[in-house]
Amino acid sequence: MQLRIPGPTPCPPETLEAMGRQMMNHRGEGFVPLLASITERLKKVFQTKGDVFLLTSSGTGGMEAAIVNTLSPGDKVLCISNGFFGDRFMDIGRAYGAEVIPLCFDWGKPVDIDAVKRTLNANGSIKAVLVVHNETSTGMTNDLREISVVARDFDKLILVDAISSLGCINLPVDDWHCDVVVTGSQKGWMVPPGLAMVSVSEKAWQAHAQAKMPRCYWDFSLNRDCLQKGQTPWTPAISVFYALDTALDMMLEEGLDGIFRRHARIGSRTRAGVKSLGLSLFPDEDYASDTVTAVRGSERIDVSKLIRVLREEHQVIVAGGMEKLAHSILRIGHLGYVSDDDIESFLEALKEALPKATKA
Ligand SMILES: Cc1ncc(COP(=O)(O)O)c(C=O)c1O
Repeated sequence: MQLRIPGPTPCPPETLEAMGRQMMNHRGEGFVPLLASITERLKKVFQTKGDVFLLTSSGTGGMEAAIVNTLSPGDKVLCISNGFFGDRFMDIGRAYGAEVIPLCFDWGKPVDIDAVKRTLNANGSIKAVLVVHNETSTGMTNDLREISVVARDFDKLILVDAISSLGCINLPVDDWHCDVVVTGSQKGWMVPPGLAMVSVSEKAWQAHAQAKMPRCYWDFSLNRDCLQKGQTPWTPAISVFYALDTALDMMLEEGLDGIFRRHARIGSRTRAGVKSLGLSLFPDEDYASDTVTAVRGSERIDVSKLIRVLREEHQVIVAGGMEKLAHSILRIGHLGYVSDDDIESFLEALKEALPKATKA
């Protein structure tokens, strides 16, 4: 079976084996060096000297944590959205009483940076910009560097969903002045679901000191205090910590540049491969993601059937579209533990499956 969805992604034997270890006392001495060493190595991958915390939750918990730790009810926030997860960020902000100013673009279309500037100009009291780096729902990567420059010029906090990009695509958190950046263990990290990892900048801490949204489980202060004792506030997903400990060694051995190059090469090969079969990409190609490729169905190609044939006849699992794209695109995950050979064998399966999903 080949799992080619954009998360959970396949795990290498090394991390699966690490998961099989016996539990340990998370308030005992053994956990202290484990947490410290994972945190230090995460900072390397986040490319930050700021704080990084491990929250036992899925990625969405990290998005919620970013919001409740830095904002107060009634705060104006600019939510940039061009996909399902941008909309989710907006929903979480609203759920906690933020005054959300939506800046929406068609799904699969890039962010118009002038529109971001205009909106910030017209709404001086906006406190934060919320944005998704890699929009998994449409297979596109937003130009976070450009957006973060604008957020900085306007002196706004920037909260980033990098759930399906961090550890795969370059995101130098400090160089780009990103205040809270969130990722999830089941994406590029080669480990199972269960952890959200978040970085917190100095500016985010200043906002945190004033932030009034209700928070308990997600409180960054509790994480900071506990981290000094070598603990997490709540019972951590210990098995996923074991796996991440091993995965981080593997990642740092490959090196960040090596990881980014591999994802870029595999992303480009996937796009070239699907196009050579006569398929077209869903997002603007200049913004096509190196971690997930979204392919358009057409009058000729029945994507639901293609997904079924790949599963039933080739044991390859790909994802369909989300929400309004449910039956019109398919999405291929190529992040984390993925090799050139994996993509070649995927493209081979796709080539064989395609005629069976082609309408007469
Ligand atoms: C960009 C993005 N944001 C948020 C999420 C939500 O993460 P989770 O399902 O781990 O809560 C995902 C997961 O697919 C994602 O890809």
